[in-house]
Amino acid sequence: MSPAPAQRLPFAIRNPAILDALEPYVVVSPFNLGCLDLAPFGLAVPAAHIIDPLRVASETFLSLLQRLDQITFGPEGMPMPRWVFFDCAELPGAIYGLGRPAAALADDERDLFGVPAGYEGLVPYSMYVALPMNRAGVWFGHNLCSIAPALRGAGIRRLDLTGLGSVTKGLALACLGVKQFWGATQWDSKALFIHSKFGPLDLTTAWTPAHSEAETLTYGFAVSERNLRASMGDSTVVLERPAADFEIHASDRDGMQDLQRRIEAGERFCVPAAPRIDPMGMFVPISELQRT
Ligand SMILES: CC(C)(COP(=O)(O)OP(=O)(O)OC[C@H]1O[C@@H](n2cnc3c(N)ncnc32)[C@H](O)[C@@H]1OP(=O)(O)O)[C@@H](O)C(=O)NCCC(=O)NCCS
Repeated sequence: MSPAPAQRLPFAIRNPAILDALEPYVVVSPFNLGCLDLAPFGLAVPAAHIIDPLRVASETFLSLLQRLDQITFGPEGMPMPRWVFFDCAELPGAIYGLGRPAAALADDERDLFGVPAGYEGLVPYSMYVALPMNRAGVWFGHNLCSIAPALRGAGIRRLDLTGLGSVTKGLALACLGVKQFWGATQWDSKALFIHSKFGPLDLTTAWTPAHSEAETLTYGFAVSERNLRASMGDSTVVLERPAADFEIHASDRDGMQDLQRRIEAGERFCVPAAPRIDPMGMFVPISELQRT
């Protein structure tokens, strides 16, 4: 398969080289296909990269997607079983990501992914999985991953993929037409650096025993063109952010539980900006908001 010509967004992103090397794809069943914007910000998903999970021909791509999840989420202890991909992602929701034609991969990259001999399709380098909630435009983000850190970790540095996770989430929310976003992540997750690029994150939980990791925060934000552009590194967009009132250390379980008690008592908080890292660890800023 010959690579599609590189496409550009109508604004400057942090690392335009990503779109020179990678092409967008979506995994979506026919039930949700019509709801998606298949050219978010004008970046068209080629017809060959619209993957229908109900077709046998999609099997190899979906296996590579599962491999991407294993490489990235395996070390986090949360890889998805294949049935979760189908039941809780591909069928009820959609997956958006960026990938590279198999022919462009060197042998060490092919080995990392386990690309089968003779496969000429796209190899997914990032993915964003989201599920629609019960109101139009309201989605829950269920999985974000990027191969970039694993490639760096394996000493494979042929491409500069800086910003891949951020661009993937920004384009995915545009593709899915998200108006109100909800997500859940762990306090010590480096993905908080990405999520906070969309602006202040309203906290719904700070301590979440319903999740397999109680040290999970649940957060949300309203999606706008401005915060999507900001997430991808458009330096012309500057988002408003309240000042922080205090910080929570990423392993401070007592602090998380205290914050949860205050949320359940009716107080409101947000994460106004990216975490701070120093020799003592990762600190997440918190702003107190007015009660509703
Ligand atoms: C989290 C993840 C998606 C990031 O992918 P990525 O391609 O590196 O993302 P980006 O380059 O867009 O941004 C990463 C940001 O996190 C920061 N970051 C990442 N790891 C970091 C670390 N160990 N220490 C400090 N900052 C770190 C980067 O500096 C960058 O911030 P910046 O844009 O302000 O410079 C990727 O590491 C991954 O797939 N992880 C495993 C799965 C996971 O945890 N997903 C999140 C679930 S909510």
